[in-house]
Amino acid sequence: MEREQTIRISPEEMEAQRRFAREFAHLPDRPRTYHIVTYGCQMNVHDSEKLAGMLEEMGMTPAPTREEADFVLHNTCCIRDNAERKALGNVTWLKEIKKQRPGMLIGVCGCMVQEPGMAEKILRQYPFVDVAFGTGNIYRLPELLYRAVDTRRRTVAVPQEQSTLIEGLPIRRESPFQSYVTIMYGCNNFCSYCIVPYVRGRERSRSADDILREVEGLQKQGVQEIMLLGQNVNSYGNDTPGGITFPQLLRRISQTGIPRVRFMTSHPKDLSDELIAEFAENPVLCRHLHLPVQSGSNAILQAMNRRYTRESYLEKVEKIRKAAPDVGLTTDLIVAFPGETDQDFEDTMDLVRQVCFDSAFTFIYSPRVGTRAAGMPGRIDPALATERIERLIALQEEMTQKRFAEMIEKTESVLVTGQSRRNEKQFTGKTSRNISVNFEGSSEMIGKIVPVRITAASKTTLRGQMQGA
Ligand code: SAH
Ligand code: SF4
Ligand code: F3S
Repeated sequence: MEREQTIRISPEEMEAQRRFAREFAHLPDRPRTYHIVTYGCQMNVHDSEKLAGMLEEMGMTPAPTREEADFVLHNTCCIRDNAERKALGNVTWLKEIKKQRPGMLIGVCGCMVQEPGMAEKILRQYPFVDVAFGTGNIYRLPELLYRAVDTRRRTVAVPQEQSTLIEGLPIRRESPFQSYVTIMYGCNNFCSYCIVPYVRGRERSRSADDILREVEGLQKQGVQEIMLLGQNVNSYGNDTPGGITFPQLLRRISQTGIPRVRFMTSHPKDLSDELIAEFAENPVLCRHLHLPVQSGSNAILQAMNRRYTRESYLEKVEKIRKAAPDVGLTTDLIVAFPGETDQDFEDTMDLVRQVCFDSAFTFIYSPRVGTRAAGMPGRIDPALATERIERLIALQEEMTQKRFAEMIEKTESVLVTGQSRRNEKQFTGKTSRNISVNFEGSSEMIGKIVPVRITAASKTTLRGQMQGA
């Protein structure tokens, strides 16, 4: 495994970028509006909030659609082939729009750009792309865009500096009451199917002081819920000896007065007793744990380099259920990994039945160039893969209904997040267990945590009645 040093971007470099942002506003014929199209996980969603923050510092304002924007930025994902194709397809589609509006600028960033060879491919095959950069150098957006506008030439920057730690970017947050806070970047796990370590770099943790300062600021602004982000939050602090552990960080964040804290994602191999105890003892911690299992077969787990067994996973589930029975578990599952036999797949089905997750994200294995699994023999026929995922989805739907049935007649604390577009009396929100609830309410409830009695369940959401209404 290659070793990469964490590169801390200096305050001087950040100031240089802010200068580019200020000067950009004085450029003649500069773009005035932007639209960001985001693909992928919460990491990317949160990166887009930072990209928007920088664009606003450059004096730009959001455009409601891609077609109307002077600058369209695609923040891409490459976790599976379909994610990548969708992103590239949409970039190509813009080429036609640009023909009608030649002044339009097109940018591509995110995980896909960081794939080996992708920058060259963009230069060669996508000549209408004006700006491209990777995940490690998003802070350079002001400079790259400045140069592209100033020189009317394309600027493509894919960093050697992949494992950067960047503090002090402006953030334009999507929601005034739910906020993402990154606690660590990158991943060291190298699961054999996964491209994330190659496109997001090695693990690097933000300092606890920087994180707490951010959380305290959000708490003062009235934020109700914080989602802590990291590919494997359990490894928080492993790269900064002498620092605090993830459960210790959670405790300190919970003391800031923020009503709700949740996190994503934790790797089962590193789920510690200390963290399990936190679920039992910390009332601020939401009653939800996303614990991706991927497969129920030991042979497949080993080939995936997950470094836990079916048995040790089930043992951890037992421990959580004992310590905090009200915590809902969700998971990620991959079917048709190379060499997956009928029996391996049945083992996954059996594990899903045994754990009875609240919900699961299910994926068909997609080979990613450069990962170990891409070279493994035993590719599964696509028709068989589809048959397997359909059976798995049907089983999980059954499990979800079982879990939902247990919630009926209970009163849940619901963070009200929005209003239905079709019926203005209908509101939607999330329980602490991260399940969507629809109910009748009024608009002053948005952004507040209210008690809702659960009355019915549909396929993916609950229905309820607000208490005291
Ligand atoms: N860091 C997180 C997951 C990030 S990717 C974790 O380890 O839990 C989200 C999910 O995408 C993974 O959990 C896995 O189920 C799925 N995934 C990743 N690579 C994949 C691939 N090559 N094919 C299919 N699914 C994949
Ligand atoms: Fe990918 Fe595994 Fe890292 Fe998750 S833990 S991001 S699945 S390599
Ligand atoms: Fe996320 Fe996709 Fe990158 S899942 S980390 S945006 S490859």
